[in-house]
Amino acid sequence: MCGIIGYTGNKKCVPILIEGLRTLEYRGYDSAGVTVANSGELVTVKSKGRLDDLENKLKSQDELTGTCGIGHTRWATHGEPSDKNSHPHSTSNLSLVHNGIIENYAEIEEMLISAGYSFSSETDTERGAKLVDMFYKKSNDPIDAIKNAISVIRGSYAFGIIFKAHEDTVYAVRKDSPLIVSHSDKGGFIASDIPALLGYTSKYYRLDEGVIAVVKKDSVSFCDTDGNSVDQKEETVSWNVEQAQKGGFPHFMIKEIHEEPEAIRKTVEPRIKNGLPYFGIEALDGCKLSSFEAIHIVACGTAMHAGLVGKALIEKLARTPVNVEVASEFRYRDPILGKNDLVILLSQSGETADTLAALRLAKSMGVYTLAIVNVIGSSVAREADSVLYTWAGPEIAVASTKAYSVQCALLYLLAIRIALSKKMIDEQTASGICSSMVEKIPASIEQALKMNDAVRDVASKLVSSEHLFYIGRDIDCALCTEASLKLKEISYIHSEAYAAGELKHGTISLITEGIPVIALVTVSKVCEKTVSGIREVRARGAYTVCVATKELAEKYDIPCDEMLVLPETDELLAPFTAATILQLLAYHVSALKGLDVDKPRNLAKSVTVE
Ligand code: M6R
Repeated sequence: MCGIIGYTGNKKCVPILIEGLRTLEYRGYDSAGVTVANSGELVTVKSKGRLDDLENKLKSQDELTGTCGIGHTRWATHGEPSDKNSHPHSTSNLSLVHNGIIENYAEIEEMLISAGYSFSSETDTERGAKLVDMFYKKSNDPIDAIKNAISVIRGSYAFGIIFKAHEDTVYAVRKDSPLIVSHSDKGGFIASDIPALLGYTSKYYRLDEGVIAVVKKDSVSFCDTDGNSVDQKEETVSWNVEQAQKGGFPHFMIKEIHEEPEAIRKTVEPRIKNGLPYFGIEALDGCKLSSFEAIHIVACGTAMHAGLVGKALIEKLARTPVNVEVASEFRYRDPILGKNDLVILLSQSGETADTLAALRLAKSMGVYTLAIVNVIGSSVAREADSVLYTWAGPEIAVASTKAYSVQCALLYLLAIRIALSKKMIDEQTASGICSSMVEKIPASIEQALKMNDAVRDVASKLVSSEHLFYIGRDIDCALCTEASLKLKEISYIHSEAYAAGELKHGTISLITEGIPVIALVTVSKVCEKTVSGIREVRARGAYTVCVATKELAEKYDIPCDEMLVLPETDELLAPFTAATILQLLAYHVSALKGLDVDKPRNLAKSVTVE
């Protein structure tokens, strides 16, 4: 969601800004722009559309040789994608880029109109830029202007600002929207995410809220809103440029699906000690775990779907009630949380605005919070009472795949730990599941990846569909919700996930000749029931694709037009291979349709606004 880059150094900044924005393209955007401090002027060039459109405009700007500038990719919130609504937004004194939403922009607009300002865009950001300008005119001091502006602004922001009178300096400040700062012999940078900096440095500062960064070509300093100098913790990126590149794959999504076995190994193996789950967190390893009466898993999108898998596993193994909830609903519906409940926040990015707000709400109610997050040092990770990192490495494709698989794996370990602490399973059983997880999940996903061609063949039969259904029971039902989201977001085919037994209560009226129904069959206890559901839709003309475990495919006569048999593994581990196959299926449908797999329309990787 929106990308920010800022640079000051000895090199011409336009290529650096464009390159930085390219590395942030995955975040999703619909327009882009740059401002360069150039021979005493701030020159802004912006364009609706992709970065190529911006680059075309910049081709006629040979005189843009300035070495300090800011750039932005915008994901529209206030006002349609257009040249005038694109960032940066400028005044005669300054230019500003913004991620987030200024909630009181209308109030600010009134204040600015009284001060004689007018507006050329519909954006909240232009109001923010002019607010900084209004204060700057009074003091001629950038820090004073920023400090006064943020005292008025309500909402979320990561701002990058350059001032005409300070043309070698980039200023930055943030609240509820991520922003990092770095400085090395290659110059000073600000960015909304690590990939933009990887080509220059591995050291960075994650800016604390309310801290103003002053980035110059040969120094970086930080101050609080009283102007006092403050320190920020320098961190080191744990991954490299290669990991943020496609590595020979045509898309990040397929590369990331292929990284699942390794990601699961990295996430699971270090957390098994003496054969049992061990997290190195007192609340999870000690006796507190058995005192949690109910668990609430709060998340958005794919992470919420991983939560549904977690619910199935925790309830099955630990017999502890689990409520899974969409964070955007949880935060506003006055949830009932008991003092002895555990709230788990699941998030790949750790910056999802709704998940962060849900975390803050749970904390304000005095409930213990556990974050399961992929991005180290992200806001959700930092604010929760404890954090478990999924060590999946960078996930660049907008469609989340490996992050989902590792979230499921970590929830599985947690389910075993809770079951042990509540004495629902004995150590021998727990240790048996743990060793199966280590030995069998990565290996069986590797086998599943070898089914790539067969999955693509099935995908080729689905590309012209307008609607399709996923059905399953028990944990398969949870997996179907994610399979359906994956297909929708990248192939633009409408799909619904249904509990196989629920179709006949209404939705079966939509099943007509040729409608594809993808049935997931991995749970032996309900296999015959799912098969009945398959027969029901086939009787109404559905084109059925079955994804089944080897054992069940051999044991039952499952009627279908296409069959994808999962590699042999324990039933409790089958969801992992099934998830991979369903991700591959969505990927191939999108790729065969020639769509922009990694950057689906209207979507952003990290949803940092409400
Ligand atoms: O970073 P998060 O895991 O908090 O993101 C949550 C959702 O926005 C995310 O999973 C989204 O649904 C993905 N596009 C799914 O592929």
